[in-house]
Amino acid sequence: MSASLIVLGSANTDLTVVVDRHPRPGETLMGGDLVTSTGGKGANQALAAARAGAMPVMLAAVGDDANGRALLDALGAGGVDVSSVAVIPDAPTGVALITLDRAGENSIVVSPGANARVDAAAVVARIDELAGPRTVLLAQLEVPLAVVEAAARALERHGARLVLNLSPSRAVEPWLLELCDPLIVNAAEAGDLLGRAVDAEGAERAAAELLDRCRSVVITLGGAGAVAADSHGALRREAPRVEVVDTTGAGDAFAGALAAELADGGTLASALDRGIAAGAAAVQWPGAQPPRR
Ligand code: RIB
Ligand code: NA
Repeated sequence: MSASLIVLGSANTDLTVVVDRHPRPGETLMGGDLVTSTGGKGANQALAAARAGAMPVMLAAVGDDANGRALLDALGAGGVDVSSVAVIPDAPTGVALITLDRAGENSIVVSPGANARVDAAAVVARIDELAGPRTVLLAQLEVPLAVVEAAARALERHGARLVLNLSPSRAVEPWLLELCDPLIVNAAEAGDLLGRAVDAEGAERAAAELLDRCRSVVITLGGAGAVAADSHGALRREAPRVEVVDTTGAGDAFAGALAAELADGGTLASALDRGIAAGAAAVQWPGAQPPRR
């Protein structure tokens, strides 16, 4: 059996509190009521891809606990194949501590828990079973980097395509970047790679520079849209003006929908359109994952 889209990544329980502003170091703030919801960049992206019409296979790990069961349930209900998600007996499901301000901007700390136990050998074995030359694998960096690297090498053997969302931002080996098609980063992550600040105005130039290091690149710019570059040239898309409720997971919605379009044979241009539309939808609902239909 071959899969057109595999999503390798994290699954977290998101614990969100609305605040008037984010706390400073050493400060105690009073916030609103705690909201518990399913999240994690990998799970968010897989659900967004399913919402965009793909039937993604998720490679992830959760704990053998109520939070893990809620995630498996949400993913399954959203059309994600969870048969390859590992349930780890002696690790808790990952948790994200999120503060969300009145402007819809978030700040997040992730405790990886079971996400740190995603097993490279098991992931490679599943890729060897599922991947073919038209397979797309979408990953982020909330699971161990060594697992993403092992997956990338396995994809190469099958001629499959790696879409990497370099989030949370961290340094990675040049060979891994070289395989990214596309590399997806926001402006801050692009800035980390280039060693200078990147803003919406400078995004095309940043994308052109990053294109020297990967097969194709997408820089997301929040409410200002996104730019992309590949060997055919550069593209810019504006985002529609929408009312922002919660930006949490908007980047994940973008990446998931973009990868779904690529897995369906779309171009980078059509994938960018799908990503922009999905990101704009995602900022209008509370939490990181689409409301259940
Ligand atoms: O990108 C948003 C996600 O980041 C949240 O769902 C949280 O779990 C963290 O992984
Ligand atoms: Na949201």
